Amino acid sequence: MKKIAIIGGTGEQGTGLALRWAIAGHEIYIGSREESKACEVADDLKLICIDTACSLLEIERSDIEAIKEKVPEAKIFGFDNLEAANRADIVVISVPYSHLIPTMSSIKESLTEEKIVVSVVVPLSNAVGGKATTIIHPWEGSAAEVIKSIVPENVHVISAFQNVSAERLSDLSNPVECDILVCGGQKDKRKEIMKLVQDIPGLRAIDAGLLHNSRIIEPLTALLIGMNIRYKVKEGMGIRFTHLPE
Ligand SMILES: NC(=O)c1ccc[n+]([C@@H]2O[C@H](COP(=O)([O-])OP(=O)(O)OC[C@H]3O[C@@H](n4cnc5c(N)ncnc54)[C@H](OP(=O)(O)O)[C@@H]3O)[C@@H](O)[C@H]2O)c1
Repeated sequence: MKKIAIIGGTGEQGTGLALRWAIAGHEIYIGSREESKACEVADDLKLICIDTACSLLEIERSDIEAIKEKVPEAKIFGFDNLEAANRADIVVISVPYSHLIPTMSSIKESLTEEKIVVSVVVPLSNAVGGKATTIIHPWEGSAAEVIKSIVPENVHVISAFQNVSAERLSDLSNPVECDILVCGGQKDKRKEIMKLVQDIPGLRAIDAGLLHNSRIIEPLTALLIGMNIRYKVKEGMGIRFTHLPE
């Protein structure tokens, strides 16, 4: 069981990840600029987890005794971003690129050596008034490397989950069905995050090496968004790699 903070966890991608990891048994700290908003979202997500468990176990939603007995309580809590990051082992950054630097500055003091920071951020051009089908090029190379340039030197930064849609993550009635490229950090830290990927039904983690590969992985999301529009796939396409050794 991991303690996972999701900074910007009130948004689409953050809530999808929170639901999936809470169902897998992890303890989730939803982070927001406003603690009250984080608490509201955390309560809503807990209810979604109960509903999902009830329909799986065929329990009536009104049968409070059966729920108490058979449905494990999802561990989802709301905090302001700094407090969420303080409490966690793993800190997931899930804010639009335009707000990345002020958000990182607001939590930087909590990021100590033993924590792993995970970037799901994509520097889409719509963050600065352009199109979501193109990206902007951060000076550091990628959004994940912007994060790496801000955190203390010995904090591991891992890049993952950029190419999976929030809508697929939030659809708890179906497995997500795509591959997640994971890069950055030391190999053992990367493996820890790959395990978190595999905790989500349908996702397969692929070790994509060093953090600078995020420069290739992040722009794939802009490509996917364009293809979603062209093929009218509202819920979002995913990527699968073939012929990977077991
Ligand atoms: N949505 C997807 O399908 C998807 C897929 C892959 C990757 N991503 C990436 O994941 C990240 C989050 O995406 P999202 O769709 O979840 O974004 P979002 O819903 O637009 O925003 C996420 C959260 O960021 C916080 N935020 C908004 N404005 C802010 C500001 N001015 N300063 C600081 N924080 C602010 C908000 O939290 P509070 O108001 O509670 O502080 C908001 O709930 C993005 O970088 C995106 O590119 C998204």
